[in-house]
Amino acid sequence: DQLGVVAVGFSGGQCKPGVDAAPSALISSGLLTQLQEELGYKLFHDDTVHSYKELLPASDPDYRGMKNPLAVSAVTKKLSEQVYAHAKEGRTVLTLGGDHSIAIGTISGTAKAIRKRLGREMAVIWVDAHTDINTPEGSGSGNVHGMPVAFLSGLAKESREDIFGWLKDEHMISLKKLVYIGLRDVDRAEKVILRENKIKAFSMHDIDRHGIGRVMEMALGYIGNDTPIHLSFDVDALDPTYAPSTGTPVRGGLTLREGDFIAECVHETGCMVAMDLVEVNPTLEPGLNDIGAHETVRAGCSLVRCALGESLL
Ligand code: ARG
Ligand code: MN
Ligand code: MN
Ligand code: MN
Repeated sequence: DQLGVVAVGFSGGQCKPGVDAAPSALISSGLLTQLQEELGYKLFHDDTVHSYKELLPASDPDYRGMKNPLAVSAVTKKLSEQVYAHAKEGRTVLTLGGDHSIAIGTISGTAKAIRKRLGREMAVIWVDAHTDINTPEGSGSGNVHGMPVAFLSGLAKESREDIFGWLKDEHMISLKKLVYIGLRDVDRAEKVILRENKIKAFSMHDIDRHGIGRVMEMALGYIGNDTPIHLSFDVDALDPTYAPSTGTPVRGGLTLREGDFIAECVHETGCMVAMDLVEVNPTLEPGLNDIGAHETVRAGCSLVRCALGESLL
């Protein structure tokens, strides 16, 4: 099988430096070698961690309350083209972030490719402590990593071409084909959006009640057989015990095994067309002696391997 890999060293969707160092950390811990040698993928990768320096503007004032709007827009537009180029060839696409704003690029790229190749609308499984569905006006932080789903679904609109106005219908996803798993820190304005749009969402409460096995049955049942799936995995879905090195940790999250299980179930569908792994920040060190960063990188690698077919037996 062919795997397109895009390494995105970008942190402008939020305010803490260091999440741009994640792709290098994941790759130097052996992730891509394992995918090639143990899981047998043919890799398509330019051996570059993109920082998109050439795209970053000298000045980038807030716009509609958004921070770094020009930078995030330019980087995600370029990333959208990179992901599209892989996906239109029928490759599974793995994007290593970077903060979660990069999903504006990855999901728009696969959504467009799946439309062109298969004439289908793809589904998105968003595994996260957060819903990242704030509109610019509804956001308390102004960080675009809390807004990608709003832009991708058309809930947030902007006509300025240089501030996400490049997102066209072909890039968009339907809120009816979106499923959240792992939620536990959802802003008030976001809860209104979830309710008004009847968005399918499994919180940690649902996982406690039903168990992760039943939750995955319900999530995949909702999407339906044979629908292409983009898996966007925010490492902060995991409990900080397992993934402490992330910008917005929230207690009470998934165990490592629950995270891997989600990824394994998505793999088992045979329908995964792309995966993002985001918000690993190896420079944030709550633990002693690098343990936190090392463990978080290891957890991230495990999630990716599970989604790409590593099995226990
Ligand atoms: N809801 C908060 C915000 O809008 C937090 C978002 C955290 N997002 C993330 N990708 N970690 O800023
Ligand atoms: Mn590349
Ligand atoms: Mn999150
Ligand atoms: Mn997120």
